Amino acid sequence: MAAKTQPSSSLLLIMSLFSLVLSTFVPSSVFSATLRSDIQTLESIIRSIDPSSISPSSYLSTWDFSEDPCEGAGTFLGVMCSFPLENTTSRVIEIDLDDDGYDGFLSDAIGNLTELTVLSLNKNRFRGPIPEAVFQLRKLTKLSLSENFFTGDISPEIMRLKELKTLDLSKNSIAGEIPPRISALRSLTHLILSNNHLDGRIPALNGLWKLQVLELGNNHLFGTLPKLPPSLRTLSICYNSLAGHISPLHRLKQLVSLDLSQNRFSGTIGHEVLTFPEISRVNVSFNQFISIEVIQVTGSRLRMLDAEGNHLQGHLPLNLATYENLKDINLRSNMFSGDIPRIYGKRLENSWRSLYLENNYLTGSLPLEFQKITKQIRGSLSNNCLQCPKNVTICQGTQKPKSQCTNAMQEGLE
Ligand SMILES: *[C@@H]1O[C@H](CO)[C@@H](O)[C@H](O)[C@H]1NC(C)=O
Ligand SMILES: *[C@@H]1O[C@H](CO)[C@@H](O)[C@H](O)[C@H]1NC(C)=O
Ligand SMILES: *[C@@H]1O[C@H](CO)[C@@H](O)[C@H](O)[C@H]1NC(C)=O
Ligand SMILES: *[C@@H]1O[C@H](CO)[C@@H](O)[C@H](O)[C@H]1NC(C)=O
Repeated sequence: MAAKTQPSSSLLLIMSLFSLVLSTFVPSSVFSATLRSDIQTLESIIRSIDPSSISPSSYLSTWDFSEDPCEGAGTFLGVMCSFPLENTTSRVIEIDLDDDGYDGFLSDAIGNLTELTVLSLNKNRFRGPIPEAVFQLRKLTKLSLSENFFTGDISPEIMRLKELKTLDLSKNSIAGEIPPRISALRSLTHLILSNNHLDGRIPALNGLWKLQVLELGNNHLFGTLPKLPPSLRTLSICYNSLAGHISPLHRLKQLVSLDLSQNRFSGTIGHEVLTFPEISRVNVSFNQFISIEVIQVTGSRLRMLDAEGNHLQGHLPLNLATYENLKDINLRSNMFSGDIPRIYGKRLENSWRSLYLENNYLTGSLPLEFQKITKQIRGSLSNNCLQCPKNVTICQGTQKPKSQCTNAMQEGLE
């Protein structure tokens, strides 16, 4: 998060220098100080934080109320102000605190910073519910409260924040349902609610036509996939109890990264998923898929495919070898049968970095291509029904006992 807070502190520095330079040349009467009620609000904010959690090197330790918050040089780090026009007062437009472990509550007074566009308090120890007053901040474009101890629900009042582009409440203890009216926030590009205690179904989000990043992982969400906006580039909904087919994803042609792992999705992983033009990472591990369609491609950007722990059946997909940027493949703990394609050995020698195929029902002997590989590869073929020479590294570990392999042999011969 340091990288996130830096721009605003350096901006602040530039602004402070700028006003310093200005004040040397311009009669100071032109300058009016920060709006009185904004100063009072900043005082309320710091008062509701345990002083012993404010370390001497932190932003908040620079909040020196003997100076003007918008004009003091080197004070009030984490606060950005609007430039005052003639005869008007400066207003606080951003609060972007560092991650110093501030321990306390977010003061209700925050509602009085009516010009605030950014409120970012990531990685601290704020607790209690998110005050309703936050939803009066109509100009907010970024509300980022990640990695704190906020509790309570996401108030439906949130839909008042019509300018919001980024909403990040991840890694808190927020419960309840995702309010369906969240899809009224038409400007949202980032909706990040992962690692909370959210439950219920995911509401239809296709109204969020600018949404690029949707992260809802590690919650207690259930039900089927809702309608999602085709603008999505990152979709992560891992560690929930979502079920049903994933065909609603086929429209998401801009996806770069997809993580559906640790849910109860079933049916087929359609060929669309692996062939979105920009798709780079696909993690569908630990679901109940029974098949994966892998069609021949040219110019794929796919680098990682993780489909561990499903019920995938049939032969290993030969066409995987046509994904020219693929590096890491994990098909562990499925029900694949038949021989290991020789082309897999060639890919391992040339481009693939890891190949995990253990705990399937693969049969036959290890193709020579694998035995010729000289470089260090990560992978495993153990716990199959293979004849795998022990002196080949990737063959380490035992194979399944014959009794479990009889059926596999027959299927392999089909
Ligand atoms: C600013 O205030 C001064 C003194 O009150 C007044 O003379 C001037 O016209 C004002 N300027 C504007 C732009 O309102
Ligand atoms: C907000 O400002 C008003 C007017 O200055 C004041 O009466 C009120 O107490 C403030 N609200 C909070 C929560 O501090
Ligand atoms: C895929 O998801 C699983 C479960 O969430 C995780 O353990 C695994 O590391 C992920 N795979 C990759 C390659 O990131
Ligand atoms: C493994 O052992 C076989 C015979 O036991 C030998 O022909 C082969 O070259 C060895 N392979 C490696 C990679 O050492």
